[in-house]
Amino acid sequence: MIIISNCKNIKNDLFDKNELPQHLAIIMDGNGRWAEKKGLPRSVGHREGAKAVKRVIANCIHFNIPILTLFAFSTENWKRPKNEVMYLLKLFERVLSKEKANLIKDNIKINFIGRLNDLPDSLNEKMNELFESTKKNNKLILNIAINYGGRAEIIDALKAITIKIVEKKLNIEEINENTIRDNLYTHNLPDPDLLIRTAGEMRISNFMIWQIAYTELWVTPVFWPDFDKNNLIEAIKNFQKRVRKYGGKIQ
Ligand code: IPE
Ligand code: IPE
Ligand code: MG
Repeated sequence: MIIISNCKNIKNDLFDKNELPQHLAIIMDGNGRWAEKKGLPRSVGHREGAKAVKRVIANCIHFNIPILTLFAFSTENWKRPKNEVMYLLKLFERVLSKEKANLIKDNIKINFIGRLNDLPDSLNEKMNELFESTKKNNKLILNIAINYGGRAEIIDALKAITIKIVEKKLNIEEINENTIRDNLYTHNLPDPDLLIRTAGEMRISNFMIWQIAYTELWVTPVFWPDFDKNNLIEAIKNFQKRVRKYGGKIQ
């Protein structure tokens, strides 16, 4: 079945409703450059980035994409100037408080992945509150990767697996891909089908390094605060042209 979006400036904007990515992941990059280009402080870019988050959530719901994972703050982002880090953490807290009612109304189940314990208590309280109050929702699963690093996630999985071995609940010979997957923060989710990175960098920056082994990649030069419905359609349309082979399929 075909759906037609209501975008005016994309020609031929048809995509197959049955071939949508079931799990979309996004590296939301370029807030700083967006602001710098306009002669504004980087913080303004982050604030506008938060608006783009609201927009992409609404668009995923509109297109019936069931799982969305957003990279909001990496384990490496602590290396930034202290005032930028503080601004970001406060922004997350403010946005979560402000959006609680909308998340509930829109039937969104929110989940957070990363080393959450190293984040401020006040932010953890907000995250717990939102997790608890949306956990029965089922329109969109929204994962926010915050203080998230793919390597940190694998280290944490390795520690959890090691404890099971020491406690004799697991034999070394039994370890397989499922063992690793089941101990990642994303253990209850399928791998992303499509990963979008905004702002043009051709790198992964430590995002979901286990899970994206066979994910289709789409890099757009558009800075995250400008990312809109047309850009999402463009990515999905390109995704739908891909032949996913998983190392096996011969055309
Ligand atoms: C992404 O935008 C937001 C975070 C990483 C928190 P950046 O802040 O990385 O923007 P650029 O890459 O400097 O333009
Ligand atoms: C990746 O962007 C992290 C997030 C989007 C949260 P970065 O801006 O931190 O990545 P690098 O530094 O360009 O690799
Ligand atoms: Mg960046």
